[in-house]
This record gives sequence, C-alpha cells and structure tokens, in this order.
Amino acid sequence: MTITLDELIGQPGNEADWQLATYAKLPLDIVRGEGSRVQTADGRWFWDWYGGHAVALIGHSHPTWRRIVAEQAERLVFYSNVVYCPVRTAACRAIVEFAPANLSRVFLSNSGAEANEAALKLARHHTGKPEIVAFEGSFHGRTLGALAVTHSEKYRRYALPEYGHTRFAPWGEVPSLDENVAAVILEPVQSMAGMRTATSAFLHGLRAECDRVGALLILDEVQTAWGRLGKNFAADFWNVRADIVTSAKSAAGGFPVGVTLVDDGVARGVKSGDQGTTFGAGPLASAALLATQYVIREEGLVARAAEIERRVRAAFPGEVRGHGALLGLVFPDAVAPRVAALRDRGILTGGSDDPRVMRLMPPLNLPFEAIDELASTLRSLG
Ligand SMILES: Cc1ncc(COP(=O)(O)O)c(C=O)c1O
Repeated sequence: MTITLDELIGQPGNEADWQLATYAKLPLDIVRGEGSRVQTADGRWFWDWYGGHAVALIGHSHPTWRRIVAEQAERLVFYSNVVYCPVRTAACRAIVEFAPANLSRVFLSNSGAEANEAALKLARHHTGKPEIVAFEGSFHGRTLGALAVTHSEKYRRYALPEYGHTRFAPWGEVPSLDENVAAVILEPVQSMAGMRTATSAFLHGLRAECDRVGALLILDEVQTAWGRLGKNFAADFWNVRADIVTSAKSAAGGFPVGVTLVDDGVARGVKSGDQGTTFGAGPLASAALLATQYVIREEGLVARAAEIERRVRAAFPGEVRGHGALLGLVFPDAVAPRVAALRDRGILTGGSDDPRVMRLMPPLNLPFEAIDELASTLRSLG
C-alpha cells in the first residue's frame, strides 16, 4: 500500500502542544490554497488579501509552479553549492536579468533575515567601516544582525543593545552621515510600520549622502520586489541606484528563499568563503524561483500590480498608502475589529504596527471581483 499525505497527517492534535508559542494565531486552520483564495478544514473559502503574509505573489499552488517543482523533485531535490548545477545557474541568471542593471551578482539564502545579514556583512566587508544607519519604524528580520537594524522595542528586546553599531534616523529625513558609516539600510515601503512610503526626494537624497561619504545604500525589498509595486523592483519604481538589494517572501512563490543582489563594484571584492549557507540556491529552491519568474512574465503580473492599485484607490474614499499590490488603507480608528469582521465574511486582510492601517498584500493575479467584494463588504461594515 502507498502511504498518502492525509494518512501521514492523521489526527495531529493541538498545534500549541508541540509548536513553541511564538505566534499569536488567527482562529483558522488553512488546508488548501487555489489562486487568490484559501480554504479552511471546515470547507470555508477566503479571499487572501493578506497573501500568506506578502508571499503568494503568483497565487497559491499555481499549476505551473507545482508542475515545475514536482519535476525537479523527481530529478534531484538537493545538492550543495560546492558543485555546478544547471537549474541553479538558470535561477541566478533569471534573477539578475529581472533586477536593476547595476546588480550583477546574487547570493541566495533561505529567508529575508538571512538576505539582510548577508547584505550587512558584505557592506562592512566592502567598506571596512563598522556603522549601519537604519530608520525608525524599520523591520528587517529577527536574527541578531537583522534585529540590530530593526527599530521597534517589540522585536528587539532580546537583542544585545550594542550589537552591530547601528544608529536609527527619523523616517523620511536624510541623515547626515560620517566617515564611519558602512551602509544605510531601509525598506522603500515600511510595511509593518503601516505602509509608510518613501518619497523620491528621500531616496535620492540618501543616495547622494551615501556617495558623499562612501557608504553603501541597501534597499530591503523583502516585500517590494518581483513586481509588487508595479515595477520589477522598488529601485526601478523610484529609479534609484542601490548597492545591495535584498528580498525573500514571494521570490520563489512560497518556497523559502532569501535573495541578496549585489552591485558589480561590491561583487568584485567578494571571494570564496566570505559568505555561505547549505540550503541557499538548492535545486528545488532554484526550480521554484524559475517557475515563479516564468509566471510573473507570462501573466504580465508587474503591470497587473499597477492595475490593482488603480482599482483599489478608485474603490476606497480614504487615504491609501503604498503602491501596486502593497497597500495600506488608513481608517480613522483601530482596524482590528474591521479585520476580524472581514474574516468572518470570508476576506483575509492584515493589520500593522500602526493600529489604523489595514494592510493589503494580495497575489498579483487577484481577480478584480475581489476588489469589488472587499469594497462593498467594508462599506457594509460602516
Ligand atoms: C521588510 C522585511 N524585511 C525582512 C523581513 C524578514 O524576513 P523573514 O521573515 O523571511 O526572515 C521581513 C518579514 O516580514 C520584512 O517584511
């Protein structure tokens, strides 16, 4: 007899009995995903405006992604970076070709935090300087290095206060840098902080200030890359040159991947042993990356993100922050009750660290009827 997945799952029991209690969970047990919708064990379907936390850019369980990943799984699931591997070559090439022209090399890891760790390490290595400037409201991940440049006490409280020589500057103001600064790191859209969106003047001002003192500009595009803003990367959206761009989330359509893209000038100074990871750019991850890139191209998803923004802005009378399919609806009062009421009506959205901001991070191939349904449901809630 051939064992099935359902037989392996069996009667799993209560997750809290086994998983460390690090997450405040929603009262949902999601068992299936299809396009822009997910289904619970009791058969209810939900529009996924939360996007599995900004991950499901090409939608859930996309048929092309499934087929390509299964094909790779049959051939070879994993071999390390000590060998050449055609599927890895193709994935790295596809990423570099999708990225801004100055970013000529990529290092692949397993998460957004790791992508940022690599970026910070490379920046210190390249400049020989110790200090990093980050911004108030930032979120860059939960490993110690990434946490050192994450602003909120809520995430930092277990980190060593001195870890990493970081200075935090007010969001939106170009800080005056000194010669000790290795890099400035920021999210072009501070999603967790409530979709606080950089202006062109801010980003270009940072670029000029970095150039003045020889510091690198790192864009954390963990949420903004792969077409989500309506351009390939946020660097393209604002037409600003970054020395390092990091990403993760939807890079491989849900397969865990961290991406650190590096400018040619920085890449030239990197040599064997400067960074490494076992799983990064493994064959299965590479196939998932390639499949995701293919779907983005074939379905014209970059242009579709811009269309989602246009329609959402037309449907909502209030302030809408962000760009493309990374949007924040601003309400006069706390959104938590609205988020819960939407959930009861089959629509998943997200909150943020700003209690008045509801976050929308849906798949880019979201059917437009979902926008009408969200708008009318919100209207009915008053
Ligand atoms: C902007 C940003 N950077 C970094 C991270 C960390 O990514 P990961 O959770 O994959 O480590 C996140 C995660 O939400 C993020 O939103």
